[in-house]
Amino acid sequence: MTSQPRVLSGMQPSADSLHLGNYLGALRPWVQRQSEQENFFFVPDLHSLTSRIEPGVLAERTRKTVAQYIAGGLDPEANVLFIQSHVPEHAELAWVLSCVTGFGEASRMTQFKDKTAKGGADQANVGLFTYPILMASDILLYKPDAVPVGDDQRQHVELTRTLAQRFNSRFGEVFKVPEASIPAAGARVYDLQNPTSKMSKSSESPAGRIEILDSDKQIAKRIKSAVTDAGTEIRFDREEKPGVSNLLDIYSSVTGRTVAEAEEEFAGKMYGHLKVAVAEAVVAEIAPVRERALELLADPAELDRILASGREKARAVAAATLGDVYSAVGFLRAG
Ligand code: TRP
Repeated sequence: MTSQPRVLSGMQPSADSLHLGNYLGALRPWVQRQSEQENFFFVPDLHSLTSRIEPGVLAERTRKTVAQYIAGGLDPEANVLFIQSHVPEHAELAWVLSCVTGFGEASRMTQFKDKTAKGGADQANVGLFTYPILMASDILLYKPDAVPVGDDQRQHVELTRTLAQRFNSRFGEVFKVPEASIPAAGARVYDLQNPTSKMSKSSESPAGRIEILDSDKQIAKRIKSAVTDAGTEIRFDREEKPGVSNLLDIYSSVTGRTVAEAEEEFAGKMYGHLKVAVAEAVVAEIAPVRERALELLADPAELDRILASGREKARAVAAATLGDVYSAVGFLRAG
């Protein structure tokens, strides 16, 4: 048994490529810490059904997401990499947890409220409503110590903790109560066209996104067309200069220099200089990840082998937890 803390996280396969925000805010930090922890990283494809996704693209996006996990540096031998729908225990535990979740409690999840605010509850499916319960199930099956997620998922991890505690006090200690680990504010990447909103796969225009699988040329083009702010001075000021601040932040993040060092480097220079330098730095970071991802995607047999081995390791853990849950709630167990 290892004494390293266990960590679990995942990113939905809802786009053809991860974007720079996913990479700098999630994948790269996972990779940087992988050797200090025992890691379970998965692709929550069941969650993707809560929004309309073409059946014809889901499998391909799932493959691309895992390929990018590995290309970004996650070691598939040392870590458990798997696909949520390959492990049936996720959906099974979600049912049990839905029976310990209050209807009002689920109704108060802000992400559900935000997502249904526009179209109204009639436009939303029940899966979107129970989404946080499935997420709690993803987490609790593996008994992780920590769950690295973006700030927008904090409330879901809170619910997970609540459900774990409630279950344990009602049925006996089965679950570990996990902590959310939220990255520092600097790890957030904003949309290039709309630099007060987070870079997101669901934003209206792709022009504000830098995608990992884009060509060097496309990446440079998007950065060169990023909106900048009034004035000419290159300085970090999130309020007055959100566009320039985002570029400085990205630059700092990919070069490892501090924002203050970056400000100094560009003092007296024009916005154009900053954009050229950011484009070069981002391409230098991303191009090798893209190349490796494309190589992996060109070898589906190898990816399948990795996923089969991840599935086996994940199921061993998940099945043991679900067995304990079924016994704890009092089901007559199959002989
Ligand atoms: N809801 C998460 C997101 O959209 C994805 C997710 C599903 C997840 N299950 C999880 C993240 C379990 C961490 C742990 O970002």
